[in-house]
Amino acid sequence: MKKIAVPQREKARKTKRSNHSTVHAFRKVIYHHYEEQGRTFPWRKTRNPYYILVSEVMLQQTQVDRVTEKYRQFIKVFPDAPTLAKAPLKTILTVWQGLGYNRRALALKKIAHIVVQQYNNKIPRSLDELIKLPGIGQATASEILAFAFNQPTVFIETNIRSVFIHFFFSDREDVSDDEILPLVEKTLDLSNPRKWYYALMDYGVTLKKRYTNPSRKSAHYNKQSPFNGSNRQVRGKIVRFLTDKSYSSARELSQQLNLPLDKVKSNLITLEQEGFIKRSGQRLTIA
Ligand code: ADE
Repeated sequence: MKKIAVPQREKARKTKRSNHSTVHAFRKVIYHHYEEQGRTFPWRKTRNPYYILVSEVMLQQTQVDRVTEKYRQFIKVFPDAPTLAKAPLKTILTVWQGLGYNRRALALKKIAHIVVQQYNNKIPRSLDELIKLPGIGQATASEILAFAFNQPTVFIETNIRSVFIHFFFSDREDVSDDEILPLVEKTLDLSNPRKWYYALMDYGVTLKKRYTNPSRKSAHYNKQSPFNGSNRQVRGKIVRFLTDKSYSSARELSQQLNLPLDKVKSNLITLEQEGFIKRSGQRLTIA
């Protein structure tokens, strides 16, 4: 019994040591790149949780270069949650124009309202509370905790996924996030999660430039569906038209936007249900 137990313990000790040095080497590569070529963004220079929440919602589906200017504009016009909560949806959509996925603008307005009403104008500091907010999923909630409050949350987003696949699963296909998450947890720099995640994201971006889409080996890799002809495009056109013009009707929208009337009508129903638009008889306006 003893004879077996001792070598096993020795083996476990060696494995532990080698895991430890792998983590150390991995962190060194990621941080070295960050010290040399880390990116600076306006949302990385602030500690204001409201600004960070706004930036993370913008970054959910839009590239960083398109977000930078919009982020500056947005926090200038809506510098805090009470201002955003009170602002007309139309004003918010006007500033949002160009970012796409307008649902996020509506979600931000609702979030601002909840933060003011339920949280005494303080962005919540727990995952449970954050994921209850509209438009905030597990990843965004974790990002807010890491970037606003430097909390050691464990999460994956596209660039982070690429880094782990590149270093730890280079000979694999269909890598699932469940396989990656324990490694994210094990390698997390508990002394500065905020900096660590910035560094990981920045390394992930360089992989995209060096290799053709490193995330394609992920089981979660989804090619974006075509935008042209999609409902997303139709919705976007309708919301934009109604934002620029004070009101319209289904028939006018169909003619002006050169879209089939039935397609306009079905999208109007959804937009009304979601709280984007209001109807009064034939007359349609932004809610
Ligand atoms: N810095 C902070 N959050 C980020 C994000 N979601 N994407 C890129 N850079 C970031």
